[in-house]
Amino acid sequence: LQNPRLFDAFLAFQSWKLAITDDPKGFTSNWVGHDVCNYRGVYCAPAPDDPGVITVAGVDLNHADVAGVLPEELGLLCDVALFHLNSNRFQGSLPAEFCKLKLLFELDLSNNLFCGGFPAVVFKLPSLKFLDLRFNKFVGDVPPEVFDLQLDALFLNDNAFKLTLPPNLGNSPVSVLVAANIFGFGILPPAVGQMAETLNEIVLLNSGLLGSLPDEIGQLTKLTVFDVGFNHLIGTLPESIGKMVSLEQLNVAHNKLTGNIPEGICLLPRLQNFTYSDNYFCSVPRSCQNLSPDDGDENCIPCKADQRSPLEC
Ligand SMILES: *[C@@H]1O[C@H](CO)[C@@H](O)[C@H](O)[C@H]1NC(C)=O
Repeated sequence: LQNPRLFDAFLAFQSWKLAITDDPKGFTSNWVGHDVCNYRGVYCAPAPDDPGVITVAGVDLNHADVAGVLPEELGLLCDVALFHLNSNRFQGSLPAEFCKLKLLFELDLSNNLFCGGFPAVVFKLPSLKFLDLRFNKFVGDVPPEVFDLQLDALFLNDNAFKLTLPPNLGNSPVSVLVAANIFGFGILPPAVGQMAETLNEIVLLNSGLLGSLPDEIGQLTKLTVFDVGFNHLIGTLPESIGKMVSLEQLNVAHNKLTGNIPEGICLLPRLQNFTYSDNYFCSVPRSCQNLSPDDGDENCIPCKADQRSPLEC
């Protein structure tokens, strides 16, 4: 009844079960016996390279609240395409043997207790498209090479990562990049404009951005969400934002931006929410005042309510 791949998977899951220290919901309670395809959270399918052979294609422990570590034996799951561990209490880091998961497409480690440096083993996963590391305890530099990976989505937010957005950011084909709430430092490089073909959402909230926004953001005509709130941005908003025709959510609040808000922003056809409070803007075009909500408190705009004192301005 078994094939060698399912036997390897059996060894992998039994090692993993030994590495689990708490399972309050009994999620892994049926991880007994050789029939791994019936284990809770385990999904089997015909092997891509040999459709006559059944193999483990997916592991989904989302919201299992399991505590433990990931053992090296997980490298035996060499046909796995989806590996989802959202909302558990796994610690430690990714095993080096993960490099054997050549078909791994989606890796979701979000909302766990993973720690240590950026899990460099992801650079050895040629099929990886979706990498979600958010809400963990990862520390240290995010290697610039992460932007050379052929990813579709990258979530780094809510870790103790250090990130300086490098010039090769422009090489990244992601549609979604979330790097909020990390120890970022540096500017948004002009190369961000090179992401125009694919970028749909970029969230750099509270990520230590300095300097001013580059004119090149105007090239991002497919972008729907641009969030750079709670940073240290200075200078004026580029007029080119008026070319970001897909923009729905624009958040530049809680920075040190100055000057006039370009008229083109509030004429964007899909804009639903433009938040610019807590800056030093000195005028807002009428088109913006018609937006609802009009979220522009704590600026230096004459005849507008809830502005900074003349002294501050
Ligand atoms: C608008 O965006 C801001 C900043 O992202 C957010 O705090 C606020 O809740 C949004 N408002 C609406 C009505 O969606």
